[in-house]
Parts: sequence; C-alpha cells; structure tokens
Amino acid sequence: MFLRHVSRRDFILVLLGAACFYTFSALSSPRKSSLLNNGLGYNEQTLTAIQTVTTTETKTAFPPVQTHVDLGLAQDFLETSLVAHAPGWTIFRNLYMANGTLLIVTSDPSQFPEPRMMTSTGLPGNLTNDAQRMPTAKEMDFVTPQEAKTRWGGGIDGRHRVSTVEGTTLLFNDPPQFLNHYFHFVAELMFGSWAFLYGAFHDQTAKPPASAEPSFNLPLISNSVPTIDRAIFIHSDVEGWRDAPGFNGYFVRAVFPSMTVEVETDWLDRIKATANTEIRRAWHFPLALLTDRSAAFRGPITGAYTQRTAAEPWMIMAKAKKIDLIGNWWASMRSALVRYAGGEVHEDLSPELQLPETVVITYINRQGTRRHLLEEDNRALIAAMEDLVERKNRIEDGPRWEFNNVHAEQLSLDEQIRFAAKTTIMLGVHGNGLTHLVLAKPNRLSAVVELFIPGGFARDYEWTSRSLGITHYSVWFNESFTHPHEPEWPDYPEGFHGPSIPVDGPFVAKLIEEHVAAREKGVLADNSPVNDQH
Ligand SMILES: *[C@@H]1O[C@H](CO)[C@@H](O)[C@H](O)[C@H]1NC(C)=O
Ligand SMILES: *[C@@H]1O[C@H](CO)[C@@H](O)[C@H](O)[C@H]1NC(C)=O
Ligand SMILES: *[C@@H]1O[C@H](CO)[C@@H](O)[C@H](O)[C@H]1NC(C)=O
Repeated sequence: MFLRHVSRRDFILVLLGAACFYTFSALSSPRKSSLLNNGLGYNEQTLTAIQTVTTTETKTAFPPVQTHVDLGLAQDFLETSLVAHAPGWTIFRNLYMANGTLLIVTSDPSQFPEPRMMTSTGLPGNLTNDAQRMPTAKEMDFVTPQEAKTRWGGGIDGRHRVSTVEGTTLLFNDPPQFLNHYFHFVAELMFGSWAFLYGAFHDQTAKPPASAEPSFNLPLISNSVPTIDRAIFIHSDVEGWRDAPGFNGYFVRAVFPSMTVEVETDWLDRIKATANTEIRRAWHFPLALLTDRSAAFRGPITGAYTQRTAAEPWMIMAKAKKIDLIGNWWASMRSALVRYAGGEVHEDLSPELQLPETVVITYINRQGTRRHLLEEDNRALIAAMEDLVERKNRIEDGPRWEFNNVHAEQLSLDEQIRFAAKTTIMLGVHGNGLTHLVLAKPNRLSAVVELFIPGGFARDYEWTSRSLGITHYSVWFNESFTHPHEPEWPDYPEGFHGPSIPVDGPFVAKLIEEHVAAREKGVLADNSPVNDQH
C-alpha cells in the first residue's frame, strides 16, 4: 500500500531523468605540486578538479512537482557527485550526514579529492596543530551504495529514515577564530562562496524563474545560481560568527534575507538524531557547498601564496573564465548591500571598467583605534588630500573630485557602506576598515592605497583589490610599490600594529594624482591575480 503513488519503475525513470539534467565534465586529475612550504608545514598535493554544470537548471526540475515521488521509499540512495572543487571549497550534490560524519555515497571514491583537501576537524589553527586538524573517518567518509542501503535501507514498512534538508546549504566548518572578523567573514568566506557558486552555476542565458510568492527583494543578478536556503556554522555558536561592529550579521541579512542560519547547537541536534543505532537516520543535502579554512591552506594558492582562503575558489573559476576579472560576478552582493544601506546603486555590468564622473577619495581614518599614523603625519596627509582635491576642482572640464575623511567608528554601518559604495580611491592604514573596498563598484580609476609601517606588508587587501580589478598600492612613508613588485611574504615588523606609523602626505597625493592621470590616458594595469605565476 505504501507504493500506491509511484511504482518502482516510475521512480527509476524519474531518477534517470534527473541524471540527464546535469552533464559533468570531469577533469579531476590529481597532480603533485612542487614542494611548497608555507611556514605552516604543509607539503601540498592539490587536486584541481573542476566539474562544472554545463546545462541550465531550474530548482523545480527535480523532483517534478506533480509526480509525488516519495523518496522515503527509494531502495537506492542518490549517489554523491562533485559539482566543483578547490582546496577547502567543494560543491556536492547529494551529500549525507550521520552522527557528525559527512558521508559521500559512491562506488568510486577515487572520483573525489582526498578528504584532507575538503575538510578538517574544525579546530582553530595554529602553527603546531597540523596533525590534530587532519580529518579522520569521523569527519568525512565514503560509503558504497550497497553499504548505504544496508545502513539506512527500509524498515518493516519499507520506508527508510533519510531526511532531506531541502534546497542549497552552505556548510561552514570553521571555528570562530576567523569567522568573527568582518574581513575574514565577508572578504573571504562570503567572497569565496559566491565566486564558487556563481562560477559553477551562472548561465547568461538562463531565464528568471517564475516567482511563486510575492517578494520585495530584488533578484540577485544571476538567474541560474541556486537560492541559498541556509548556512550552517558547524563549529560556531550564535555569537561565534558575529563581529564586534556587527557587519557580519548585517551582511547576511541584507544580502540573503531568506537565508536560515544554524549553528553548532543545531548541528548537534542533527548529530544526536542520527547517533541512534535503533533507527538508523541520516540527513541528505541535495546541494551543499562545504568550506574549510584548514583544507584551503593545504592548497598552494592559499597556503603558499595569498594566505586568502577565497583565492582557491576564485582562481579556479577565474582560470576557467567562469567569473570575470572586474568584479561583475560580485555585483549581486555589492548592490544588495548598498541598496539595503540606502545608497545609490550603479551597476551597469559592462564587460569593461568605465570612467567615473567623480573621483571620490575615501580616507579610512584609524586615529581613534590602536594601529594608526603619527598624528602629525595624519594631519599632513589630510591637508595634502584637501589641497589635491581643491586643485583638481579648479580645472573646468575634468571630473569632479571629492575627499572624505571617514572615522568608521563614529559612523553607523549604513553610513559606512554608503561612503564605501561611492568610493573610487580608498586610502588608509592596513586594517579591517579597508574591507569596505569590496563594496565599491570597480571603475577605470579605482585604487586602494594601503599605508604600512616601512617594511611591513600583508596580502589581505592587496589580493582582494586585484581580484576585483582594482589597482593596489602599498606605501612605506615616501615609497610605494604595486604588483608584481611587492614582497613575496607578509611581514609584520615592530610597530606594524602600533600608533606611530609615518607617512609622507604629499607623496601619497602625488601617487594618487599620477595614478588617475595615467588611467585617464588609458593606461590600464593588467595585474589580475589570474596572471600570477602560481
Ligand atoms: C594549538 O592548538 C592545539 C589544539 O588543536 C592546542 O592543544 C595547542 O595548545 C595550541 N598551541 C598553541 C601554541 O596555541
Ligand atoms: C556515533 O558517534 C559516537 C562518537 O563518535 C560513537 O560512539 C557512536 O558509536 C556512533 N553511533 C553510531 C550509530 O555510529
Ligand atoms: C624619503 O624619506 C627619507 C627619510 O626621510 C629621505 O631620506 C629620502 O630622501 C626621501 N626620499 C625621497 C625621494 O624624497
């Protein structure tokens, strides 16, 4: 009687139909990269598998709405497949979880990257606990379809107890260590997630899905990237993914107003529900993006070059030309946030960077925080900027110039986002405030000018700027350098985090003036990270 809605034959036909929706081009070829020592002791082997969905898909395609397929009666479980993989970033179809273990149902585990390139034990990273962060079969395991049937197969009523967690799930495996920080959350976790999802699913020809319910939200620019239904912070509590100024929560609600957030406690509920030996329950994730910081650092681009976890997924998609090099792929996030903050959205999405009407220099002033400029140099810098802008505005037929001296800690989040959104040139001492660079729509004149103590360098904003097509300059008092002339490794000399960073204000004004003049003449720097020798 339980089979009255669907015969087994119908069910198999449905499955076959679903399988035909997706054509995978499997290019998975494990290759040894050269021995890379990133100071964290990783010997890297990377797998640059990228398997990309090549056909359009609509969320309603499977299972067909009308057929009332009851998967609880299926004898065979849907096998796991890879949509895309970069170290630390993996998009799966049909991933399972039971008792805290992520389970890949497959008869051929060699189709998948090694678990250490996908996940970890989720412990906070430090220089000495490499081994403790290596995943074991408790974190991730392979199960053959036959074993899956034995474990979860039908009970006396013919019904198994696998529950589908419907829609698209982001599985974030990181502890709070880096989650609770605006830069790492927005410019790494969200940046990398969207680069990967957009790269894997964006299809220019896709038509907007018919809207089922009224919604005040503007659709994200891509019609074919699946809606993100939930994020699960596996190793973080409610506070662990929130930063002190409140940007992370703001970002998530502004950009994904319908996304549900689950944390460690919720994951423990799901673990407890599947720890039982009496009823063998399991969870099924039809589409999931799993990210893991430790696994990303096992990849060469993050671990041995950028130290940016987002660089692994970005690079794979950029090299495959699945995302552009001027940040149009990121426009959905940027414009949703700016619109939410009450700012003006200018997203023409032309395939080339445009000349702006106004050159807006935004100085992220850190004098009220720990790491900052010598006060005298701060005043001279502001005076040099005001002088530059005044001089430029005396020219009749050029663009207008504007200078904003922004003390982020004195502004609301809305105000900060509105300033960031209209910025052409962002200027400031190395620090979290520069994360706002991801909110500015890149144009021909865009630049980030980052002030370090002489000798100091970090790639956080350097890599992030270039990945959006924005030129980045590092300044050491009265010297500057830009890619590819930066130091190979980050360096935090004494005074890096201190209150006495010197800068030659007139030098910075001249740098900006020359940058804008060169770009106006049409000199464009091709310094995208996609061209880096890594
Ligand atoms: C590194 O992390 C491990 C836990 O994974 C901890 O036992 C150890 O004390 C930490 N070491 C340092 C130097 O913080
Ligand atoms: C669930 O995991 C716990 C701890 O790892 C283990 O002791 C228990 O036997 C597992 N239960 C099942 C059903 O596998
Ligand atoms: C840069 O500053 C140093 C230290 O004040 C000075 O000796 C040097 O001449 C300056 N260089 C230029 C090109 O102005």
